[in-house]
Amino acid sequence: MVNEKMEAALNAQLNAEVYSGYLYLSMAAYFEDIDLAGFANWMRVQAEEELEHGMKFYDYIIRRGASVTLEAIEKPQTEWESPLAVFEHVLSHEKMVTGLINDLVDLAIQERDHATNNFLQWFVEEQVEEEENAMEMLAKVKLAGDDNSIIYTLNEEFATRVRTPSEE
Ligand code: FEO
Repeated sequence: MVNEKMEAALNAQLNAEVYSGYLYLSMAAYFEDIDLAGFANWMRVQAEEELEHGMKFYDYIIRRGASVTLEAIEKPQTEWESPLAVFEHVLSHEKMVTGLINDLVDLAIQERDHATNNFLQWFVEEQVEEEENAMEMLAKVKLAGDDNSIIYTLNEEFATRVRTPSEE
């Protein structure tokens, strides 16, 4: 069992992961609007991964005999100044999520909930990857600058991203 404090915090993180999915889906829609279908594909895959993260929390809450409580999902931003602004947002968002995961780990340690701490370690590692990916994407878009031929090449590259379901 997890205690009530942990249950509430895990439910809040479930909401945050689904919100991340919603935010990235909004970014996908923005890229569709500006005719960068490859960029949109990359974001759509990212959105699916976030929903998968949310489901990991959903399943874990249930496995520990606690209750899932779904709250409203905040409306995400819908417009960005440029593709560069989108990837700056992705990186700042992922850094924020890393902070949320760190807070959860702190709480698990404080509550002496070793099982939850263990469960959360997957997310600690995942956030390293998420920030790494965001930095890489940002660097690519930054290097492209206003050169439409490079943006076109990136668009082709991002069109090839497919979802790889994470391992348990
Ligand atoms: Fe669920 Fe992008 O971290």
